[in-house]
Amino acid sequence: MGNIPPQVYAPGDDTFLMTDAIDTLSVEGKNVLDLGTGSGILGLYCALRGASVTGADIDEAAIRHTADAARLLGVDLKLVVSDLFSNITDQFDLVLFNPPYLPSEGIHDGTVDGGSGGRDLIIRFLEELPGHLRKEGITFLLVSSLNNPHTPLKGYSNFEFSTIAKRALFFEELEVLRLRLGNDLSI
Ligand SMILES: C[S@@+](CC[C@H](N)C(=O)[O-])C[C@H]1O[C@@H](n2cnc3c(N)ncnc32)[C@H](O)[C@@H]1O
Repeated sequence: MGNIPPQVYAPGDDTFLMTDAIDTLSVEGKNVLDLGTGSGILGLYCALRGASVTGADIDEAAIRHTADAARLLGVDLKLVVSDLFSNITDQFDLVLFNPPYLPSEGIHDGTVDGGSGGRDLIIRFLEELPGHLRKEGITFLLVSSLNNPHTPLKGYSNFEFSTIAKRALFFEELEVLRLRLGNDLSI
């Protein structure tokens, strides 16, 4: 995937827990959004499995890097600089989001700082998500024990959620939550 520029998030345990979750699905032919694409790894992983992928990030350097990586791998990705869904109009079968989630006072490093309780961005994401998810669509959202992740979800009764993958690290436990809006799950 070429050298990842220092300001772009390099894949870590959280990223690979997301790929474990993706491996539970067949994404071929699905319309996938990789939000906060960073190095592009999740979107590229899906594109290599036949998905039609949009990669979005607030950081132009991440989008430039992902475009280069897609060229190197010979895959087609639609890429857009976007603050969450601000520049995204489509609806998706699968939305992936590994957000910045570290509790922080303000946002100093946009790749990891999640604001108050580490949940500011996650709450905005949950507010905006329903307009971008197809009726049978699902979302994989990475959360950490550091941000008490089930708390914000309790306020969103329109989502059903379950844990699809989990990993204990020495200072936190990571989970991938699977969210959906209705009872149908066709992916
Ligand atoms: C923890 S990294 C995840 C990167 C990659 N998806 C992965 O799993 O390795 C979070 C990413 O979200 C991006 N990001 C932060 N705030 C954002 C926002 N408001 N809208 C879109 N992307 C954002 C960051 O630039 C960063 O690339």
